[in-house]
Amino acid sequence: MNSSFRGKLIQGDNAAVLDSLRREGTQVTCAYIDPPYNNHDRLQHYDDSVSDNIWLDQISSCALQIKQVLAENGSLWVSIDDGMMHYLKVRLDEIFGRENFVSTIVWEHRTSRENRAVFSNNHEYILVYARDRKKFKEYRNPLEFTAEWKSRFKNPDNDPKGDWQSVSATAQGGHATKSQIYAIECPDGRMLYPPKGRCWTLTKERMLKAIGEGRIYFGRGGGGVPRIKKYLSEVEGGLTPHTLWKAEEAGTTAHAKKHVLSISEEMAVFETPKPEELIARIVHIATKPNDLVLDAYLGSGTTAAVAHKLGRRYIGIEIGDHIATHCVARLRSVCRGEEGGISTSTGWRGGGDFEFSRHA
Ligand SMILES: C[S@@+](CC[C@H](N)C(=O)[O-])C[C@H]1O[C@@H](n2cnc3c(N)ncnc32)[C@H](O)[C@@H]1O
Repeated sequence: MNSSFRGKLIQGDNAAVLDSLRREGTQVTCAYIDPPYNNHDRLQHYDDSVSDNIWLDQISSCALQIKQVLAENGSLWVSIDDGMMHYLKVRLDEIFGRENFVSTIVWEHRTSRENRAVFSNNHEYILVYARDRKKFKEYRNPLEFTAEWKSRFKNPDNDPKGDWQSVSATAQGGHATKSQIYAIECPDGRMLYPPKGRCWTLTKERMLKAIGEGRIYFGRGGGGVPRIKKYLSEVEGGLTPHTLWKAEEAGTTAHAKKHVLSISEEMAVFETPKPEELIARIVHIATKPNDLVLDAYLGSGTTAAVAHKLGRRYIGIEIGDHIATHCVARLRSVCRGEEGGISTSTGWRGGGDFEFSRHA
């Protein structure tokens, strides 16, 4: 972490704090907000019940202020549920421009079933906007390859180049050149043309070279359709994130509540925390080490805890007094090497520091 900057927790109304950040020239790479959803729930720590129009004005104005502190490659990620999602989407489109809308992520926030309801709602949304979609796309990180994904690579023919999986050797024939339509001589003697309306993905010259190098698989015994071997050792980069984030990879609300409770016995239940796994995914995709992460509705401090563990700088803004009882207590515990949430998967051992202040 940049030695001149410590993570900052600021108690105050986000409108006033964001105004100060803009005046100071703060540049945020990833802003995440998880505002009250205005679903009229009675919650212990904050009010979730104003008129829809007032709520929309508040969140839109916060989004506009965040846009003003976003770096060129920066992005805003907004958690929201079914109740206000579509109204909010229209407002955010106006603020960022539809061309800068990146995606809607669907997060499976619970795995249990609510049998008293008409539908047992088990998803929330995350709306993703970029200050400049093109620059964000160039900057964003793919996900790391998972063990499940790697396990799809096998080596049934003892290929010395190691595990591989096969991909189709044909493509739509519409834009094919002549050099992509020819007969392949298969190991069992068949002369095989691409199926009607399709072409080979490789030109004849490249296909012959690939066959010579053992990069084409003709099925067990050589009697199948040729397919191209993609070797695990040659795969670069990572996985393009899906838009559906399952509980097994991004956690659930229930799981996050348990984690927050486990941090300190003195911490009262916080009803709506997000799991560290969910926020870690966002931070991983949108930022690089040392970038600045902002959360203007900090709640129990999840975003700050994740940013700290992942070596990002961070500013967390929270209006409620639970910033002291929850966020400050949680971050102290993180600095001491707290073991829950993403600590095991990231090898977190503790360290670093943060500041806590009240906005004047
Ligand atoms: C849904 S919770 C956020 C939960 C958080 N993502 C977590 O993982 O714990 C929303 C939070 O926003 C805070 N809040 C509401 N209005 C605010 C405002 N104007 N400025 C700063 N914080 C605000 C509430 O006090 C509440 O703690």
